[in-house]
Amino acid sequence: MELGKGCSPARRLLRLALALTTLLALTLTLVACQGSPSVLAPASPDARRILDLSRTVFVIALIVFVVVEGLLFFIIFRFRSRGEEGEPSQVHGHTRLEIMWTALPGLVLVVVLVLMVQTMAAALQPMTDPLEINVVGHRWWWEVRYPGYPPEEVRSEQATTANQPAYGVVTANEIHIPVQKDVHVPVNSVDVIHSFWVPELGGKVDMIPGNTNYVRLHAEQPGVYRGQCAEFCGVDHALMAFIVVAESQEEFDAWIRNQQLPAQAPESPLEEAGMRAFMSQPCVGCHSIRGTNARGQIGPDLTHIGSRRTIAAGSLENTPENMRRWIADPQEVKPGNLMQYPPLPPETVDAITAYMMGLE
Ligand code: CUA
Repeated sequence: MELGKGCSPARRLLRLALALTTLLALTLTLVACQGSPSVLAPASPDARRILDLSRTVFVIALIVFVVVEGLLFFIIFRFRSRGEEGEPSQVHGHTRLEIMWTALPGLVLVVVLVLMVQTMAAALQPMTDPLEINVVGHRWWWEVRYPGYPPEEVRSEQATTANQPAYGVVTANEIHIPVQKDVHVPVNSVDVIHSFWVPELGGKVDMIPGNTNYVRLHAEQPGVYRGQCAEFCGVDHALMAFIVVAESQEEFDAWIRNQQLPAQAPESPLEEAGMRAFMSQPCVGCHSIRGTNARGQIGPDLTHIGSRRTIAAGSLENTPENMRRWIADPQEVKPGNLMQYPPLPPETVDAITAYMMGLE
């Protein structure tokens, strides 16, 4: 917007008002965007605390904005040039004013600090009988480890799994949790810094190689909540998503039981061919399928990939069409991702797709 010369003050004001209105309308439109993930639809005590804090800080900022801009406009109009000759009288070193405009912002920041520390302290309160789920960041997907996986791992002293069943389950990009249960989530990374964030269920926490951080999840209602990597981690950062499925204890137990089973055997000649192709292709060097010779540790465990709702770290819905597209050309779906191999013949892609979809 150009505030050109020769514009009358009234006209400038009008333009400014127009610009502000447009900005406000745009903000309101964006705020109205619903659906997961949304920080404006908290589904856990922590997410609600965070939203309350941001609303409070927003109101404080709004008051500061109105007061400062009000004073600014008041001074501009009250002391504007009325055609007098020469320079206006120069004011310098008004001690009381200077103390005031140093102390007041300081006071506002102290208030915000106290509110923030209170919120953080509330989020760090001990949990009652939590379920512990380790999440490990990879470029560009999420490894999800339930208690007892890997079996030989030495538990950290903060581990809370002492009296928990050793599920021994590992999955990727999909975290199942029982509803209304505290879930303690230690996070770290095997490569670069990622950030674990499920806006509706809790705070955001950095995943740092060699250092374990913690966050708490707690879903008050059953549902599917989308999570997103919130720290730039490379070309596919924006495509590094996951979902949290909050379900009843019975549904959760049934899911765990299914995940504990070894991979389903191929049920058709096509799936059989897919399995053979998978085992003879580079796939096997990176992926594990329990109960087969595939024991790669670089990519996600595929033992139950057919049961997942999304593939490619939340990028695609898990349908046969999308699976075919993903296997045929992973670089087309997520350019730059680490799944790279020469193009496969279409019949091989079809067979591997059928095998993957059968791994429920
Ligand atoms: Cu991982 Cu951004």
